[in-house]
Amino acid sequence: MPNAISGFSKLSKSEKIEWLLDTYFTDKEAARSLVKNYWNTDKKLQKLHDEFIENTITNFYLPLGVAPNFLVNDKLFTIPMAIEESSVVAAASKSAKFWLDRGGFKTEVISTEKIGQVHFTYSGSFEELQMFFEGVKPKLYTSTSDITKNMERRGGGILDIELRDKSQDLNNYYQLHATFETLDAMGANFINSCLEAFAKTFKSEAQQQLSGDLDVVMSILSNYVPNCLVKAEVSCKISELASKDISNPELFAKKFKQAIQIAEIEPYRAVTHNKGVMNGIDAVVLATGNDFRAVEAGVHAYASRSGRYSSLTHCSIDNDIFKFWIEIPLALGTVGGLTSLHPLVKFSLEMLEKPSARELMQIVAVAGLAQNFAAVKSLTTTGIQEGHMKMHLMNILNQFEATTDEKTALIEHFKTNVVTHSAVVEAIEKMRN
Ligand code: MEV
Repeated sequence: MPNAISGFSKLSKSEKIEWLLDTYFTDKEAARSLVKNYWNTDKKLQKLHDEFIENTITNFYLPLGVAPNFLVNDKLFTIPMAIEESSVVAAASKSAKFWLDRGGFKTEVISTEKIGQVHFTYSGSFEELQMFFEGVKPKLYTSTSDITKNMERRGGGILDIELRDKSQDLNNYYQLHATFETLDAMGANFINSCLEAFAKTFKSEAQQQLSGDLDVVMSILSNYVPNCLVKAEVSCKISELASKDISNPELFAKKFKQAIQIAEIEPYRAVTHNKGVMNGIDAVVLATGNDFRAVEAGVHAYASRSGRYSSLTHCSIDNDIFKFWIEIPLALGTVGGLTSLHPLVKFSLEMLEKPSARELMQIVAVAGLAQNFAAVKSLTTTGIQEGHMKMHLMNILNQFEATTDEKTALIEHFKTNVVTHSAVVEAIEKMRN
């Protein structure tokens, strides 16, 4: 076991790397050149990435792919996706093309409210606290006037501040539950700054006016945003579902709907089903510089809102019309944070024609719906492995350092043969012998 190290963050980048090499690696030369090979030759660009986080030693690449032909509310988009899973971009593109010929995706932003809370304890009665809160509420607003000035000028700001009694669930526990409109910003910094200002004013006023003890535990935004909702939908006549892979559209629609119903009532399936949705969502969220952990946490809480974890997507068949939709909470930003810093994020946003946060919510929801459509379509028809393994073929070939000629020949071979890991290994060995 290595010794603990103190002052690590103060070491230079090279010193950090040397410490790692000395501590963990036998082939130091190979490890050192690996780390350095991933440095960008453009020193300014590398410095930018070094400074995103602490203790950066190198870069960790993900592919940035694009899925074209997304018709969203009659406008065409090419969607950027940062993801490592081999079949995701292909599946999104296939879905986009499928629905392009059937009227495209229709979307709607339902609401855009964000939430933040000051969590505190109070030893006195709720009635006393309530009276105090009503009196102090205007001061909470004025205490944030410097922070909210610009946001208010653009039409956003604090929507409301409520006092909530949570003492039934936890002794003496109360909240200031505040709602915000943060427009094109994801709003984390704005909300957290407002909350800390509320907390400071609330505490100092309490010291002067209240008989009991009031202690602020913490002030933080919530990543659960059930009122920051977007809906995306596709629909067509059942007969119009007929395509190269769908010879019997009635049967397809019926099985597809059953698959969605299963995900609605069965959490084991719902988790995997929603994972497929998040393949699309996270890839666009990441490519556009948004916080995919925040989105993930909020989305899964939303999927559990009934008390049973359930599908994020839904399907209906009425009067011969097949309809498939998603309703999902997404707190996204197209200004601030990484959006003006990371060159590839700027590139992705430009590709999307510099969307507002509302527009990005719609594009991201579409990516999630498209991804889920592709997955459930495969699952209920050919099965998932055929497409997955075709895409995975390249990963296996790269593992075996196949040459360009070997790749061309083997890709041709596996157009008509089932791809399994062992079949690919066997084919490579046969070719090389
Ligand atoms: C794989 O990344 C995602 C799927 O498992 C999703 C699903 O099962 O719906 C294919």
